[in-house]
Amino acid sequence: MAAKKWVIGNWKLQGSLSSNQALIEGIRARLPALDERVGMAVCPVFPYLPQVGGLIQGSGIELGAQNLSEQAKGAYTGEVAGAMLKEVGAKFVIVGHSERRSYQGEDDALIAKKTRAALDSGLIPVVCLGETKEERDSGETWDILLRQLNAVFDLIDAAKDEVVLAYEPRWAIGTGVSATPEMIADVHGFLRAYLVAKDAAFGARTPILYGGSMNGANAASIAAVKDVDGGLIGSASLKADEFVVIYEALRAAD
Ligand code: 13P
Repeated sequence: MAAKKWVIGNWKLQGSLSSNQALIEGIRARLPALDERVGMAVCPVFPYLPQVGGLIQGSGIELGAQNLSEQAKGAYTGEVAGAMLKEVGAKFVIVGHSERRSYQGEDDALIAKKTRAALDSGLIPVVCLGETKEERDSGETWDILLRQLNAVFDLIDAAKDEVVLAYEPRWAIGTGVSATPEMIADVHGFLRAYLVAKDAAFGARTPILYGGSMNGANAASIAAVKDVDGGLIGSASLKADEFVVIYEALRAAD
């Protein structure tokens, strides 16, 4: 069974009640009926989840959050638990994004706990991995990816858990310079082999997304790469026309 493809918009720290509405209405106006092989999801900041959940009703677009606590409940001021995200309609939650690794100091151990917390709440974690420019230049890419994978997979049960992986080379995020199709093919092939080694069926059904300056202009060439099962889109997901062009590119690829 081939993995389902997903086009997921990570809105990051952006949006407002009015701009969210305009964006979702813009996407819905341009979107053909969703193909069952290619899903779409949007990930606004926490306060807008209920609003956006209402706006996407009946469209087939799914809702995701950008973060969750590793804790289920308790005296953790400012945290948000997976069950709460689930209750307001989230299907996905992004975990391990490089911006949280960099700015919030999240390490592999915490990301693994958050991944487990998401799964235990009935959410699908979108687990982000990727190397820095320095790590790539010094030939450490595979070691870094393996370290990030092993931490998370220590707490994942490949026989039953459902996850999405996102390869997001840090140097490609928000820079306008995406990884080349050759680099993406190499990494995605490596990730697929890792997943298949855990469990053949798990490896085949787990979507592997690419993220990092994916946009309307490069979506078709990235979508055509073997083992690319979609995209995790930052800035281009805030433009309805471009986000739908990316969706169409994924739909058109085999
Ligand atoms: P950009 O598409 O803006 O490069 O961001 C990618 C990303 O970080 C998605 O999570």
